[in-house]
Amino acid sequence: MSPKILGVGYSVPDHRVTNQDLAQVIDTNDAWITERTGIKTRYLSNHENTSDLAVMAAQRAIKDAQIDPQMIDCILVATLTPDAMMPCTAALVQAKLNLNSQRMMVFDLNGACSGFILALQTIDALIQSGQVTMALVIGAETLSKILDYSDRSTAVLFGDGAGAFVVGQDQICKPWVHFVNTQGDTEQTLTTDGVELNGSLRNIQGQTPYLRMKGQAVFRFAVKAVEDAIRQILLKSNLSIEEIDLIIPHQANARILSHVAEKMKFPMDKFVMNMDEFGNTSSASIPIAYAQAKSKGLIHQDMNIILVGFGAGLIWAGTLIEL
Ligand SMILES: CC(C)(COP(=O)(O)OP(=O)(O)OC[C@H]1O[C@@H](n2cnc3c(N)ncnc32)[C@H](O)[C@@H]1OP(=O)(O)O)[C@@H](O)C(=O)NCCC(=O)NCCS
Repeated sequence: MSPKILGVGYSVPDHRVTNQDLAQVIDTNDAWITERTGIKTRYLSNHENTSDLAVMAAQRAIKDAQIDPQMIDCILVATLTPDAMMPCTAALVQAKLNLNSQRMMVFDLNGACSGFILALQTIDALIQSGQVTMALVIGAETLSKILDYSDRSTAVLFGDGAGAFVVGQDQICKPWVHFVNTQGDTEQTLTTDGVELNGSLRNIQGQTPYLRMKGQAVFRFAVKAVEDAIRQILLKSNLSIEEIDLIIPHQANARILSHVAEKMKFPMDKFVMNMDEFGNTSSASIPIAYAQAKSKGLIHQDMNIILVGFGAGLIWAGTLIEL
């Protein structure tokens, strides 16, 4: 059995924030953000939490797949900004969608900006083992709740959103080809604190753990990581770059991708890009870009598509889907 994408969907919060809007509250400007990153707008949540965005994206993916939602027996949410430390966001999604099949596996996975690729790789294994037959695979984030709006080098980059795939099983689909690697990060290159260890009987109420980043180190890592993931996938699948129709990368920064395209000598239009509209939505960015590309008619039968994630960990990962 191979996995098959049956439907896709995405959602973002109501509130759209332009670079000019940010410049009202942060010492920044549209020209700097656009030139350095390619980002023009992003959506930031006022009231939607991660599970709310995940549910909206999931409903659209279920509609796109035209399946009975009660057939779903697994919900996997990739997120680094869950609603709560427990229960997992996937359990909240199950409850909000009112899914009550005879057996149901739900869990969250935190692989930061590579999270959605790790989720696809996990679901592939669960489908092949026969443990899961129909899965909702979701990348969902409300990164706005961990942004430090006094740090202009990070606050302008990120946005909120969710993307979802319904993944079923198929006997004739070509198997997906995966690659993943990690370079355990001891340098706090891209990090957000967890609950502090204060010593027993000494916990402190309510401190927001902010996202922190060494921008240039991440940039250097990302350029190498995207190229490596693409080359490893080509090697494993015995395909050439010319045989790849689309590459859907994590939407961090347009300049990272133009460096890769130049180095690997392929045209930029092989990359699906929408960071201008959504910013960097971490684990949600790849499924949002896929679902938006599909709704624009850019994705067709018989295409070879590589999905590539990279980010905190430092993790980088790719999956080839031959439709
Ligand atoms: C974050 C990033 C855009 C910064 O670009 P950069 O060219 O490295 O910029 P620097 O950090 O060297 O800063 C250059 C100047 O811009 C300023 N600056 C930083 N953020 C700014 C902002 N939002 N607006 C205006 N100026 C800004 C800095 O203070 C610095 O000013 P100075 O020269 O007076 O000291 C870039 O490093 C990057 O894209 N890194 C990868 C980030 C990423 O993709 N993260 C997610 C991975 S999953």
